[in-house]
Amino acid sequence: MSDSRAIGVFDSGLGGLTVVKEIVKQLPNENIVYFGDTGRVPYGTRSRDTIRKYAIEDENFLLSHDVKLIVAACGTVSSVAADTADTLPIPFVEVVSHSVKSAVEATRSGKIGILGTAATIASGAHKKQILELLPDGEVYENSAPLFVPLVEEGWYSAEDVVVLNTVERYLKPLLDKGIDTLILGCTHYPVLSEAIAKIAGDGVTLINMGVSVSEYVKEYLENNNMLNSQNGGKTSFFVSDKTDSFRNIASILLGEEIDENKVKQVSIGTYDEGSTD
Ligand code: DGL
Repeated sequence: MSDSRAIGVFDSGLGGLTVVKEIVKQLPNENIVYFGDTGRVPYGTRSRDTIRKYAIEDENFLLSHDVKLIVAACGTVSSVAADTADTLPIPFVEVVSHSVKSAVEATRSGKIGILGTAATIASGAHKKQILELLPDGEVYENSAPLFVPLVEEGWYSAEDVVVLNTVERYLKPLLDKGIDTLILGCTHYPVLSEAIAKIAGDGVTLINMGVSVSEYVKEYLENNNMLNSQNGGKTSFFVSDKTDSFRNIASILLGEEIDENKVKQVSIGTYDEGSTD
């Protein structure tokens, strides 16, 4: 048995392309429908109620595209709104539990750090789940609100002193506690991996939630006979706004150029498909 329907992936904006990149690596023959809520990004500074409302609309948009499984690539949605998917008729995969599992497997000292958006850290979702799996563990968290704009500005080089200083400022309190594992709890942070690794040093394992979640999705589709057996590997992109910086930001996060003409702008909330130009 097989299932040729696409995997649906959504995020508050273009950050989820870091997760798409990992899914494509693991599952090159799967079709993907990506929705980025670029008209309403960021979610990470918004209230819980607003994030939940947006998450439900994003999930419904993907459902309207007949996907076989939905991935919430967004760390913020996964932290504060994962239960909005409880009533979905298809499987739903969020990024918190899978990155927590990878972190618990990786840690030797039991001291785990998390960086994320303000809403993600305020939710305490990672901490709660880590302590369920590792009751004697120690969890240290910090929000890193400047990371998203830094990455979107194209400032992520591990040679850039502004980048390194910013990383150090957010990371030092966690390093001072002796963490040996760090969850990059937001879509954009893998782009800063090299700079983060430079500050954190060799003794700290970085957990990329895109890697954790795509390994799980692969296993899930295999175990449930849901892999695509037809000719696939196509990604369709939908966004709720196309700004001037769209192409640049998308290529930073996806790691390759994206053909703007293949990206459809939609009106989220009503799901009307607008023009492609
Ligand atoms: N995608 C968001 C996340 O992973 C980061 C950007 C935002 O704040 O919306 O938490």
